[in-house]
Amino acid sequence: MSNHNLTYFIETFGCQMNVRDSETIGGLLEQAGFSQAQDALDADVVVVNTCAVRQSAEDKVWSRLGQLAFERRDGKAPVLVLAGCMAQLPQTVERIRAKAPYVNVAVGPGHIHKIPELVLEALNRPSVKLLTAVSPSRTEARRTESTQMLPEELPRVKVPGVSAYVTIMYGCDNFCSYCIVPFVRGPQVSREPRFIMEEVEALVRQGYIEIHLLGQNVNAYGLDLDNGIGFVQLLESIDQIPGIQRIRYATSHPRDFTKEMVDTIKQSKHICEHFHLPLQSGSNRILKLMHRGYTREQYMELVYYIKEQIPGASVTTDIIVGFPGETDQDFQDTLDLLEQVRLDGAFTFIYSPRAGTAAARMANQLPRKVKSDRLQELVKVQNEITQEINNALVGTVQEVLIEEPDLRNPEYFRGRTRTNKLVVCTTKGPKPGDLVNVMIEEAGTWHLKGPLAQAGQHKSL
Ligand code: SAH
Ligand code: SF4
Ligand code: F3S
Repeated sequence: MSNHNLTYFIETFGCQMNVRDSETIGGLLEQAGFSQAQDALDADVVVVNTCAVRQSAEDKVWSRLGQLAFERRDGKAPVLVLAGCMAQLPQTVERIRAKAPYVNVAVGPGHIHKIPELVLEALNRPSVKLLTAVSPSRTEARRTESTQMLPEELPRVKVPGVSAYVTIMYGCDNFCSYCIVPFVRGPQVSREPRFIMEEVEALVRQGYIEIHLLGQNVNAYGLDLDNGIGFVQLLESIDQIPGIQRIRYATSHPRDFTKEMVDTIKQSKHICEHFHLPLQSGSNRILKLMHRGYTREQYMELVYYIKEQIPGASVTTDIIVGFPGETDQDFQDTLDLLEQVRLDGAFTFIYSPRAGTAAARMANQLPRKVKSDRLQELVKVQNEITQEINNALVGTVQEVLIEEPDLRNPEYFRGRTRTNKLVVCTTKGPKPGDLVNVMIEEAGTWHLKGPLAQAGQHKSL
């Protein structure tokens, strides 16, 4: 297209969904004639793809925007684009207008295909203050408008690596009471299966070994379509694609994870034996206030069913501490559940009130000290469990997909087991994309380590 010699750089905050969206933003900008800059501080156009899930995520973005605007090598201001979830919040646009006039464009997640056009307009008409493309708020928009869904067949930049993300659904209908995602990502809209299949097939042809399916609640995939295809049928079709080696998916909702899905995964060839099942809290009282739609007993039953059907499978979780009104007893219930079910790992978060959500309006917001003490205790309990589980893997052989050089010892490469555990391979030779068998000799909370297995040493899950 045009030949203007301008460069772009994208910085991505937040979840895998944003990482995937950034690949499309890059593809669109390249199609419009921009090329990738080596560094954000040299680029003519800088896109910051943002996250609004916790206050800490937003704070990071605000401080980074200031640096991008003022710490440039050539002193010339870039076109600065604030994309992603924060752009959907009315208070973000207000704050840009009041205090951050160096941001030129604000684009919500459903509008990233408009970025090239908005960037060119900002370049051509520097006097215009702020260009925006955001969806109407959820109270204004009708369910059918699906303004958060992207058009199909947008370009994407090819990212180096062995694993590729494929978004299978947009938005979320759950309205967990603490969560901003349904407000900024809109209602659940599943992509048509044929577009998903075409995208996965193309990625496999390009040489990606692992496909990672994305959605806020993948277990509800297809419930909003009218073709009888749900998550089970989608997984079965993707598992059949010739050449695919590993399939992962995120995020699951324990309420919608059926036993049939577990059975499908068990019978599949390529779907990895890793279950990320966000628990959020082990207290039934808090789960109810969170609108999660399951009890601790139902959660435990699901985990036990998985472990019984697929011995060796790993299960990880997300937990929030300090939800409004969480008592010592509620918190003890969470610790108690973790000690009983013994999960492989947990991402742990301090509750962060999000304006507009039901929980932010609840009485009994807890003091910071209570929240941080609970987080510390939770991390300690879970780390001990994770360490014990990992210790039990010492002496076993694990299939590892090699991904990249290890950060600490760049002469070694690291990868992941099917159960999503990080493994540093201490034998030189394997390259990214290789599937190798590693004899585990050492275990920590965040990684396993060992040399390539010898002939005759058999792998286990
Ligand atoms: N759709 C996914 C992920 C949502 S965001 C899911 O349902 O699990 C990822 C995690 O962030 C959540 O699982 C939750 O543990 C955490 N989270 C979401 N909102 C939060 C908030 N207001 N404060 C703290 N943690 C939050
Ligand atoms: Fe947020 Fe709940 Fe939806 Fe996950 S399922 S994105 S936690 S509202
Ligand atoms: Fe953050 Fe948006 Fe993902 S709020 S967690 S980037 S969906």
